[in-house]
Amino acid sequence: MRILGLETSCDETAVAIYDAQKGLLAHVLYSQVALHAEYGGVVPELASRDHSAKLLGLIDEIKPQGITGIAFTVGPGLAGALLVGAALGRSLGYAWGVPAIGVHHMEGHLLAPMLEPHPPEFPFVALLVSGGHTLLVNVAGLGQYQILGESVDDAVGEAFDKTAKLLGIPYPGGAALAALSEQGNPNRFHFPRPMLNRAGLDFSFSGLKTAAAQIIAKETLDEQTRADIARSFQDAAVETLSVKCQRALQVTGQKRLVVAGGVGANKALREALAHIGADVYFPRHEFCTDNGAMIAYVGCQRLLAGQTSDLSIQIWPRWSLDQI
Ligand code: KG4
Ligand code: ZN
Repeated sequence: MRILGLETSCDETAVAIYDAQKGLLAHVLYSQVALHAEYGGVVPELASRDHSAKLLGLIDEIKPQGITGIAFTVGPGLAGALLVGAALGRSLGYAWGVPAIGVHHMEGHLLAPMLEPHPPEFPFVALLVSGGHTLLVNVAGLGQYQILGESVDDAVGEAFDKTAKLLGIPYPGGAALAALSEQGNPNRFHFPRPMLNRAGLDFSFSGLKTAAAQIIAKETLDEQTRADIARSFQDAAVETLSVKCQRALQVTGQKRLVVAGGVGANKALREALAHIGADVYFPRHEFCTDNGAMIAYVGCQRLLAGQTSDLSIQIWPRWSLDQI
């Protein structure tokens, strides 16, 4: 089985080919970051138009041959953006006479470590940390996902991006804020650790942005101050995530932890989780953030399990991982 995977849920147009025997054969990505940067965030209408403009050209670039199935992201994400990938993917499947399958974007992130040379075995706990989601998931097997906890307000990636914006870093500022924090003094400012002393596995990150805004209103933003704020913000976010991961491992009795999604590329988070007392699995950096490879991989597993999409083009912009 050889799957062409398409990802268009947000601001990256990405395609890949995954072969059940040979593994990942090709993957390319076009990022719309520059297109949205001047607006300080993703503009949905521009995202859809750009996916329409770029998707077929990217598919042509990886020269799909011998494709026996097509996978595309159908949710969660921006409706118009999802429709571009779903419409093209479903139609290509029909035209080529091969089965097609709609994929959950977060299941893509969840299983992205399976593309690495030493993939985790089931079962495991997964921490999914992206621009739109912060989830702790108990994973029993393919498609068996129980949500243990999630953010009650902003996603952690969103908190990174909003705080970065307050520091004058262009969208999406998460990675640049992390780089800035390396010069920062960890002891100058203190940020709250929201919901850490409350039982349960839910998160709250909107207070971190508010704390940053209050400090920024008081301070003169020289280079060192910006770095100090970035450092303390990141320390608070990372400590919150790692304590909740520890708790999730305790509650479930699992010995393996998978960390994925854009914030999974964060170096401080990776270092903190390396000492958590479990086997920790991360995708390589480029498969932490949005990509087509994870969608092709999930599509392959689902088609192998006998699932297919019917001849209609459907999307689920809001779709919880435990409703798959
Ligand atoms: O998974 P992803 O590419 O897209 C979504 O599905 O949301 O995640 C993007 C998010 C953005 O908020 C971005 O700022 C954040 O991941 N991010 C980072 C880092 N690299 C990307 N946040 C912190 N540190 C990083 N190194
Ligand atoms: Zn994502």
